[in-house]
Amino acid sequence: MDVLEAIESRRSIRKYREEPVPQELTRRILEAARLAPSTSNTQSWKFKVVTDAGMKRRLKEAALGQKFVEEAPVVIACCLDLEAFAERGRQTVKLLMRGVRPSLEMAVRFVRQGKGKEFDPERVIINGAINVSIATEHMVLAATSLGLGTCWVRAFDAPAVEELLEVPEGIKVLTLLTLGYPAQSPGARPRKSLEEITF
Ligand SMILES: Cc1cc2nc3c(=O)[nH]c(=O)nc-3n(C[C@H](O)[C@H](O)[C@H](O)COP(=O)(O)O)c2cc1C
Repeated sequence: MDVLEAIESRRSIRKYREEPVPQELTRRILEAARLAPSTSNTQSWKFKVVTDAGMKRRLKEAALGQKFVEEAPVVIACCLDLEAFAERGRQTVKLLMRGVRPSLEMAVRFVRQGKGKEFDPERVIINGAINVSIATEHMVLAATSLGLGTCWVRAFDAPAVEELLEVPEGIKVLTLLTLGYPAQSPGARPRKSLEEITF
């Protein structure tokens, strides 16, 4: 299946067969996330793969009781890694200390940029969310091309999910992605026309 076919045939899947997803396929799907583009190549994402039945039940409870979260063979917590931005600031400083000696003026600009941009909370959150979203949709399209179904889930109690998954400091769960062999083939949901979405 080529990319356009995957884009056109993808649907949110909320009913799954019990059949487990082979680990090899889960790895290929995560690999699609790994290859995604990101702002300044920060790769500011982390993923937690959940297959344990008890944990999926608790995740369902934290996700407003959405049944398919428990029923999907795999749930991938797609997380923003805030440390990735701090790391970039550190790398800039390291580069300067390693004797890559640009002019003093350039060095000051570099560090300022690092401090001004990479540590601006709004920028970090927006860039970070963009990066995680791209990686997540890479996984969605890869899963579609492998005959698997997915559904993005954002309706959940984030602090509860983070506690359940023992998410380390600096990591924020943005979405849960359910994954498994589809047990339904829903029609396409309506979309606005091209005229409505272009100007
Ligand atoms: C960021 C995001 C969050 C979503 N959260 C949920 C959710 O919590 N529960 C759910 O059933 N669907 C969720 N969806 C799926 C949307 O409802 C779905 O994509 C939309 O209705 C269009 O349908 P389609 O994906 O089949 O084309 C979410 C989708 C996105 C992109």
